[in-house]
Amino acid sequence: MTVRKLKLSDETAFFAAIAKWPKDIGFHLAIWYREGISFSDYLNLLDERERGENLEPSMVPMTLLFGFINDEIVGRVSLRHRLNENLLRSGGNVGYGVLPAFRGQGIATSLLKEILLVARARGLDRVLLTCDDSNSASIKTIEKCDGILENVIDLPTEDGIIKERRYWIELES
Ligand SMILES: CC(C)(COP(=O)(O)OP(=O)(O)OC[C@H]1O[C@@H](n2cnc3c(N)ncnc32)[C@H](O)[C@@H]1OP(=O)(O)O)[C@@H](O)C(=O)NCCC(=O)NCCS
Repeated sequence: MTVRKLKLSDETAFFAAIAKWPKDIGFHLAIWYREGISFSDYLNLLDERERGENLEPSMVPMTLLFGFINDEIVGRVSLRHRLNENLLRSGGNVGYGVLPAFRGQGIATSLLKEILLVARARGLDRVLLTCDDSNSASIKTIEKCDGILENVIDLPTEDGIIKERRYWIELES
């Protein structure tokens, strides 16, 4: 798998992945993508937001990388460069998702390992990951990458209160 930022030639792969991404989960494959915007505008928006430009007050700069196997997008991983009050509670620095057809093959684990290198290179000493207490696959992914559980909090959502795990991963210097 190759893990990298999107480029203009990925347009077909990008829309193919969006079409295959389950719509019934609150987790987005293409962060900040809105239907109707052109692919090139989306890439420009990602670049801007990675640089910290045109961010709404509640947003922080973010790097978004995609995993490719044979030119097909198989997943994505994001790194928020810093935390704000909301992200410190829930959301954290890192998020990842894998296309259903590619799950159970170690892809999330590889995506997480890759973004930890990016985080370290950006000067972070540790990253926060949060996940639903019922998300066994994500819990295993985080714990395989040496995530240390800080606590499990009650998080109010539209669907009621959920239990959210908060993990830190220390980054080696
Ligand atoms: C969570 C998710 C990213 C895992 O992706 P994945 O590529 O299947 O994960 P991996 O193959 O790297 O597996 C990691 C570990 O989880 C385990 N696992 C995978 N799917 C599992 C499942 N459905 N139930 C329990 N464990 C599971 C794997 O066996 C592996 O552990 P092991 O090495 O001890 O066997 C994927 O299910 C997903 O995209 N879910 C929707 C988005 C999401 O929940 N993102 C995380 C938000 S916190």
